[in-house]
Amino acid sequence: MAERRYSVSIEVNGTLRQGTVTARTSLVDFLRDELRLTGTHVGCEHGICGACSVMLDGDPVRSCLIFAVQAEGHRITTVEGLAHADGSLSVLQDSFCETHGLQCGYCTPGMLIAAQALLDRCPQPGEDDIRHAIGGNLCRCTGYQQIVDAIRLAADRLAKGGVPSAGGGKT
Ligand code: FES
Ligand code: FES
Repeated sequence: MAERRYSVSIEVNGTLRQGTVTARTSLVDFLRDELRLTGTHVGCEHGICGACSVMLDGDPVRSCLIFAVQAEGHRITTVEGLAHADGSLSVLQDSFCETHGLQCGYCTPGMLIAAQALLDRCPQPGEDDIRHAIGGNLCRCTGYQQIVDAIRLAADRLAKGGVPSAGGGKT
């Protein structure tokens, strides 16, 4: 017997997106498989690694632990929503490039979401704030210091008017 499907309407990166999902379709599968927003990565699929992080109503959440039906009526921001409409990098994204805050890039979408959520609520974070904000996101490549440097650089640039080294201009 075919599994029952449910209609969902979710605001994703400022646009109302609709689809049909099963009750057990995770939010990350809906984003990647239905909406083709493949910037959000899938790692552990049980809430440990943070690769699947997105913002739900402005707060970072694990999209592997949320069913798509639970996001009905909510506002989701994925890593695609951090860049400008023309694809140029935000100040934060540009800062990751500048400080070599990524290597393989697998953790990067989740790191960017965690960092953006931090900067949204705390524009001038200290090192402890930054390390706490990314504490639930695993990176196997960088040793984390370059990521911390990237977030601090972005905060400094934004305090000075948000000018990235190239492209960008958005937080
Ligand atoms: S894939 Fe969701 S926390 Fe690892
Ligand atoms: S850059 Fe490879 S896991 Fe973080």
